[in-house]
Amino acid sequence: MAGPVQSSDRPHIPVLLRPLLAAVAPVQGVWADGTFGAGGYARGLLAAGADLVVGIDRDPLVFDMARDWAGDYGDRLRLEQGTFSNLDQLAGEPLDGVVLDLGVSSMQLDLAERGFSFMKDGPLDMRMSQSGPSAADIVNTASEAELADILFQYGEERASRRIARAIVAARARQPFETTRQLVEVIETCLSRSKPGQSHPATRSFQAIRIAVNDEFGQLIAGLEAAERALKPGGKLAVVTFHSMEDRVVKRFLQARASAGGGGSRYAPQAAEDIPAFRLTPKKAIGPDAQELDDNPRARSARLRVATRTEAPAEATDRKKLGLPGLALKGLM
Ligand SMILES: C[S@@+](CC[C@H](N)C(=O)[O-])C[C@H]1O[C@@H](n2cnc3c(N)ncnc32)[C@H](O)[C@@H]1O
Repeated sequence: MAGPVQSSDRPHIPVLLRPLLAAVAPVQGVWADGTFGAGGYARGLLAAGADLVVGIDRDPLVFDMARDWAGDYGDRLRLEQGTFSNLDQLAGEPLDGVVLDLGVSSMQLDLAERGFSFMKDGPLDMRMSQSGPSAADIVNTASEAELADILFQYGEERASRRIARAIVAARARQPFETTRQLVEVIETCLSRSKPGQSHPATRSFQAIRIAVNDEFGQLIAGLEAAERALKPGGKLAVVTFHSMEDRVVKRFLQARASAGGGGSRYAPQAAEDIPAFRLTPKKAIGPDAQELDDNPRARSARLRVATRTEAPAEATDRKKLGLPGLALKGLM
């Protein structure tokens, strides 16, 4: 379990780590942790027997936070700043396992100055890598139709058009700079949440964060990079936090674990018809009662695990993956 970290008011509790380690056992050889964060998964893999973990994160701040403890593992832990879409290149060698724990970390959410949270006032930023266009850039410059598309496709926000119209009207008076400004505009478009319901800004903040960080583009490229990097018998374990992400992972694995049209007596099986993965297990794993008790944030987490075969790696047909419309059109 990850210990308390600096610059956050809550410790990060790794989600679904116990079932993940059980599903990929025995852990040995070289692993990539494509979403290093507070290092909870990396430490779990090292304790379970990995010889080397390559810890990758696009957020430069996570490596400052790991400085206190990373040295304890000597050359068994190598840290790389970059995106998991390049994990094969960053690892630089064939892998026995890849783990991806998608989304933002609790440290990112808890730091007001990162701008991920509608609960804390801060700059409207949301960039995990701290580079490229910020949430404020998108909110201040995208057209009304583009904003509505982002809110609908990435946040499943039914009031997407109303909110987009209100954003465009508000930014004509004063450009957006802070999370509070955006929350206030969204609140004028939606009724107050009832007890037990999520805050009205939840879906819009998720949608804008996904657009800022191109999270679906990263996810597909990351799954393909894992397929390229894994040795036969290597394990891929992916933890998602919302149903759109889980759908993409599920469809990717189903597509890559099914044998296409197969061969026949007259047409031998083509390389692309041989499955690249086996689903191990077949279904997604969720948190058990104990984990939900310890960490209510784990409620919507789903883990999928697959084992690489000897089939050659390939690009995927994106149309089959259940990607939200925007990601499919490659607009952002
Ligand atoms: C949910 S946290 C991971 C927590 C980690 N498993 C742990 O136990 O501490 C997700 C992390 O992945 C990083 N991340 C998200 N998308 C990424 C990407 N495309 N490439 C590299 N890192 C990414 C985020 O910056 C964040 O630190």
